[in-house]
Amino acid sequence: MNTIVKNTTPFPDQKPGTSGLRKKVNVFQQAGYLENFVQSIFDSLDDFSGKTLVLGGDGRFYNRHAAQVILRMAAANGFGKVLVGRGGLLSTPAASCVIRKHQAFGGIILSASHNPAGPDGDFGIKYNTGNGGPAPEKITDAIYAKSLSISRYRTLDTQDIDLDLIGETRLGDMRVEIIDPVADYTELMQELFDFDRIHALINSGLFNMCFDAMHAITGPYAVEIFEQRLGVTPDALINAEPKEDFGGGHPDPNLVYAKQLVDIMFASNGPDFGAASDGDGDRNMILGHQCFITPSDSLAVLAANAHLTPGYKQGLAGIARSMPTSQAADRVAERLGIEMFETPTGWKFFGNLLDAGRATLCGEESFGSGSSHIREKDGLWAVLFWLNLLAVHKLSVRDIITRHWASFGRNYYSRHDYEGVNADGAGELMEKLRNLTGNLKGKRYGDYEVAFSDDFSYTDPIDHSVSEHQGIRIGFTDGSRMVFRLSGTGTEGATLRVYLERYEGDTAKQLLDAQDALADLIRIADDIAQVRHYTGRDAPTVIT
Ligand code: G6P
Ligand code: ZN
Repeated sequence: MNTIVKNTTPFPDQKPGTSGLRKKVNVFQQAGYLENFVQSIFDSLDDFSGKTLVLGGDGRFYNRHAAQVILRMAAANGFGKVLVGRGGLLSTPAASCVIRKHQAFGGIILSASHNPAGPDGDFGIKYNTGNGGPAPEKITDAIYAKSLSISRYRTLDTQDIDLDLIGETRLGDMRVEIIDPVADYTELMQELFDFDRIHALINSGLFNMCFDAMHAITGPYAVEIFEQRLGVTPDALINAEPKEDFGGGHPDPNLVYAKQLVDIMFASNGPDFGAASDGDGDRNMILGHQCFITPSDSLAVLAANAHLTPGYKQGLAGIARSMPTSQAADRVAERLGIEMFETPTGWKFFGNLLDAGRATLCGEESFGSGSSHIREKDGLWAVLFWLNLLAVHKLSVRDIITRHWASFGRNYYSRHDYEGVNADGAGELMEKLRNLTGNLKGKRYGDYEVAFSDDFSYTDPIDHSVSEHQGIRIGFTDGSRMVFRLSGTGTEGATLRVYLERYEGDTAKQLLDAQDALADLIRIADDIAQVRHYTGRDAPTVIT
């Protein structure tokens, strides 16, 4: 089997974004496009000769083909071994788990997260380092630089291998081990959570759940964990069969895209517990019967109750949340007497805190939560965490959240998105707010008085790197807050996100609808930022 060196020319658009390189499938289908990027990854890494690489993806269209290409290139570039999930599958959290457990050099994950899939959809590829987390900017910048000057890539002259057969085979001098994509991950979940207790709850006859895999990667994981290990009946899993086009859907677990699940949960005879995960399995949404748990509240509940699960019974070192995530978890950290970190948006900002053992739980308002068990956010982990708490407390989801609010107070919270607005207008709005931040302190708006306002800047406590301009914060004396930032993931024009939060300590006033409870702040936000004027919109496109 011969290594061959193929000549190639650079593509100018291979700059990795927040989560690797994401492009339309037909962009990846250009001759040499995938190969150039993969060679650029390998050319950016220090000596990996003879070492182990992990490979898998969310199963979307082009996943299988890309896996074969990458295997040949890994062999030609000198990796000693590749661990690949059967069928080329691994959820993002499972890939992180496998990299850590097998002390691999790194891993390649094939995914464009919740972006639609299929021949007309998106494909993506990202590199994770030996700690199981996304490559730091130093590496992604190097990949981009290499991609701009690439002139050749290495591959093998050989046939595809059978990706569906568990066991070891060889490609040139390299070993390829096809592994069960769910085994290591399931084992880790079993260490963290009390499966016996959850099994007893599920089989008590008093509890019903519904998990929506949205035709994406979590299907096989849900079947193994919920059905095989915990005894749920198959009808409790919906859209559990992974499809290359995700069934034509948009696998993002929120109230808009997981509508089928939401309808089931809000029906009068709906189940007690519901959850969904996204395309690559790192996001989660938690629901009770006729009850939605915001990701911010979910983080706070998990933190307050973590000591009740086997994996976290020693307590938490600290909690970290992204800046726009509500301050509900801060109140828990304060009560527990542990550190609380407020980081910029993006899971990568948790990496140093997790590696240094400063934070145990992390969460983002964008439906992400996770912990030090891996270095990615983890959808099924959050679902199992909730199931463990439900099994311990023997209360409904609604009772758990209302008791939490009664004990800690409620941070009413909502995010208003103005999607696809004019980028210049959105930029002007942010610029105007930035200029205002110095002069708002002490100003009164109705019942609210501004306590502070700034353009959020973060100094990483571990490596002291500074990230500036991460969003405008306006805090009020009663603990209420509003945040304005532009999305870093949108594709058309600009997306303005307005995050609103009001603290309510009085138990008698904690059961309002969030939009009603936040009505004054919503008006004040528009008044201060002149959202209608700058976006030309009368109302947000999405409210969560
Ligand atoms: C991705 C990242 C998340 C982040 C989110 C923010 O999903 O993985 O860590 O919270 O983007 O998106 P936004 O559109 O608000 O910049
Ligand atoms: Zn994802």
